Amino acid sequence: MRRSYTNMLQFFYDTFREEKYVGIFQARRPTLFVIDLDIVKNIFIKDFACFSDRISVSTDTQREPLLRNLANMSGSEWKAMRHIVTPTFSSAKMKAMFPLVADCANSLKIALSQEALDDVDVPKLMSRFTTDVIGSCAFGVDPGSLKNPDSPFLAMSQRMFKTDRTTVLKRYCRTFFPKLFKFLNLRTYSWEVETFFTNIISQVLEERRKTGVQRNDFIQLMLNMQNTETEFYMSDELITSNSFIFMLAGLETSATTLSFCLYELAKDPDLQNKVRQEIIDCTERYGGLNYDAVCAMRLVVQTAMETLRLHPPTPLTTRLCTAPCTLSSELNVKVKDAVLIPLHCIQKDPRYFSDPEKFDPDRFKEDSNPPAFMAFGEGPRSCPGARFAQLIVSAGLAAVLSGYQVQPCARTTPTIHYDPRSVMLKNKGGIWLSFKPL
Ligand code: HEM
Repeated sequence: MRRSYTNMLQFFYDTFREEKYVGIFQARRPTLFVIDLDIVKNIFIKDFACFSDRISVSTDTQREPLLRNLANMSGSEWKAMRHIVTPTFSSAKMKAMFPLVADCANSLKIALSQEALDDVDVPKLMSRFTTDVIGSCAFGVDPGSLKNPDSPFLAMSQRMFKTDRTTVLKRYCRTFFPKLFKFLNLRTYSWEVETFFTNIISQVLEERRKTGVQRNDFIQLMLNMQNTETEFYMSDELITSNSFIFMLAGLETSATTLSFCLYELAKDPDLQNKVRQEIIDCTERYGGLNYDAVCAMRLVVQTAMETLRLHPPTPLTTRLCTAPCTLSSELNVKVKDAVLIPLHCIQKDPRYFSDPEKFDPDRFKEDSNPPAFMAFGEGPRSCPGARFAQLIVSAGLAAVLSGYQVQPCARTTPTIHYDPRSVMLKNKGGIWLSFKPL
């Protein structure tokens, strides 16, 4: 049987659990696989100055300009860009943007009221929802994926997340044999995908400049920065590549979280009822699904966090050593040494979370951010979209659970087995549920 990449990491983690770290080879690249939580924290936070980069997927941004984005940048360029982008995720900006998310939650309700509700392909449905959210907030357009499952925007965005054999091979080549990748003139995303999204952004920018119409979305916030004194100029190309990374980083991760969360709730009807009751109470108290209502939903957030603990869509992150460093007073790390942090394994370690396979949102009751919870990474290079993701997930859950009882169906797999073709965590047999109107 083929092991998924995550299962392989789990095997290393379990085998060397008592060690602080081990060296592994990823293809031909020696990599430091860190197990000890204190060392992980040092890499993320205390020694961040020595580990400020991630192992880059490609630095060839001349050839692939969309890859010149926050997630791929390194060194001072990343620092300046992060400084510019971080304020776009502030609480005030999130509050102003929330009506766009709520509109999509409403479209999700409408779609549910019109579609067959037995044997629902949940990740597909949730991807339509998150595509509409990201399209609206990061691209300034309505992708219309919930209204029309054949929407061209949806079709193009789905092509970015393909896990067929050719795509997997191409990504492997890009990560471990970048020179060969360039020599063969391979591209991370097809011309069609690149052109489609680049054209959308350029049309939106042109229209906003021409009409002066403002909107509370990321593209507007980045556009406004062109007129402010910042460390470097937020060019149209950078607006485009960052909108693109918001889609890449936010769309599948949020859809996967929603899908796993509904799966866990379908298996625990009592918990589902409690979550539903909180959604109903909060929306009644605050006069609808608005920012204040979702901020008041504590159990919803706990349930989302527990989903992210048990099934973090991004099961690992990496760092690249950028300055010589001695870790844990014994391990010398050199510049360009690769580091792998197995987020998923740490979050399933019984030393940090008792009975780790149990889905239990109460873990987050007293402490909303326990030390070993790292689904969004940690430190200065952690996920800037964490709060936004939480809002998307809460709004999606509210849309579904306020009107439907989510139940297992004939196609629901009794347990989760991660798909070996995907680095991101996904269930091999998909997630199928039935939605019963209340
Ligand atoms: C449940 C949803 C999400 C999860 C689980 C998630 C998880 C992560 C993780 C693990 C990282 C790497 C952190 C590290 O290396 O320390 C990351 C980075 C990033 N995420 Fe997210 N993310 C989510 C949603 C989003 C959303 C909605 C956006 C934007 C709209 C976003 C934008 C980014 C960006 C731009 C980075 C790179 C940051 C940098 O390198 O400075 N993410 N995310």
